[in-house]
Amino acid sequence: MDAGLEKVVAAETVLSDVDGANGRLIIRGKDVEDLAQAFDFEATAHHLWSGFFEGMPSAAELKAALGEARVAAFERLKPDFARLAGLPEVEALRAALALAPDGHDLGSAIDLVATTAVASGAIARLKAGAAPLAPDAHAGHGADLLRMIRGEAPLPEEAKALDAYLVTISDHGLNASTFVARSVASTRAGLGSAVIAALSALKGPLHGGAPGPVLDMLDGIGTAERAEGWIREALNRGERLMGFGHRVYRTRDPRADVLKRVVASLPASSGRLALAQALEGRILQRLAAEKPDRKLDTNVEYYTAILLEALGVSRGLFTAMFASGRVTGWIAHAREQLATNRLVRPASVYVGRKPASSVAA
Ligand code: ACO
Repeated sequence: MDAGLEKVVAAETVLSDVDGANGRLIIRGKDVEDLAQAFDFEATAHHLWSGFFEGMPSAAELKAALGEARVAAFERLKPDFARLAGLPEVEALRAALALAPDGHDLGSAIDLVATTAVASGAIARLKAGAAPLAPDAHAGHGADLLRMIRGEAPLPEEAKALDAYLVTISDHGLNASTFVARSVASTRAGLGSAVIAALSALKGPLHGGAPGPVLDMLDGIGTAERAEGWIREALNRGERLMGFGHRVYRTRDPRADVLKRVVASLPASSGRLALAQALEGRILQRLAAEKPDRKLDTNVEYYTAILLEALGVSRGLFTAMFASGRVTGWIAHAREQLATNRLVRPASVYVGRKPASSVAA
């Protein structure tokens, strides 16, 4: 048995290749560093989805359709804002996605991406005690998401930084949430069902729920001088240090470096970034000393936390932000699964008691 399924190959994909030994991530033929540099969010969605939908428009047309879909999603969600406000962030996003259509076509895919962003913006505002802001159909998707969250248009470098984040996390092999998306798609349930299930998997602190706790950890440590003792105590309690370690990467997660560079370009990040860098070195030293047989390095969530904080996103919204980027990858995988579908149905080994009648006398 392979409890974590790490040696099981469950899909052939053209979408992404996670090379854990070399710390390299290829997203549909492009290194993640190049994709984050050259592609915006909409171009990345186009890149991932091309060939998986009938009637795929140009990247510019997809951008326009996404803008219109944000406006439509806002109108659909409006009557339920008060109920969403009473839920924790990820539950609120899940409820908002449940109101979107559960189809298989490109329109459903665009609607789900739009709903994820619009709901994230509305939830951020509602949690801050403010009224949700209507989307701007003509803005870039990332810039509009940030404006809906913060209530003011972002600086161009901030919009670029958020886009780079959304692109960097758009797809990542058969991680837990993507595997869930493909499993749901294999039953021929709609894209909405696959996305809601994937979001539920993403929520856990071992997956996309890690960046909020990264900031809690940095707050707990406080200063570089306190790092040694704090880390030692946390590891003695058997805790995991958030933002470190990865199932596949046995070296540095390349996304961490992309995001570290992006966050360095933002003036608002300087103090926190300096602390994060100082603590990162000490944490890596301690992990190497305490877990010498493991190769634990920095993962994407560490600099995600610093970046999203520098962009003025509250930590309760971090998982929804991750979903806002990854939703394009989940949808691409769901469509890829359906193209050559076989119902996902792994086997299990029964280790429970046998009925008395079948026990040999
Ligand atoms: N801090 C302390 N110890 C760790 C950490 C960590 N961050 N990561 C792994 N270990 C230890 C485990 O405790 C375990 O040791 P033990 O068996 O003595 O308890 C051993 O290393 C297991 O290592 P792996 O097999 O590499 O871990 P696994 O593949 O099961 O888990 C995971 C990977 C979940 C990411 C893990 O490293 C972790 O919990 N990290 C912290 C949470 C986190 O940052 N999650 C975000 C991941 S990125 C993403 O999903 C988008």
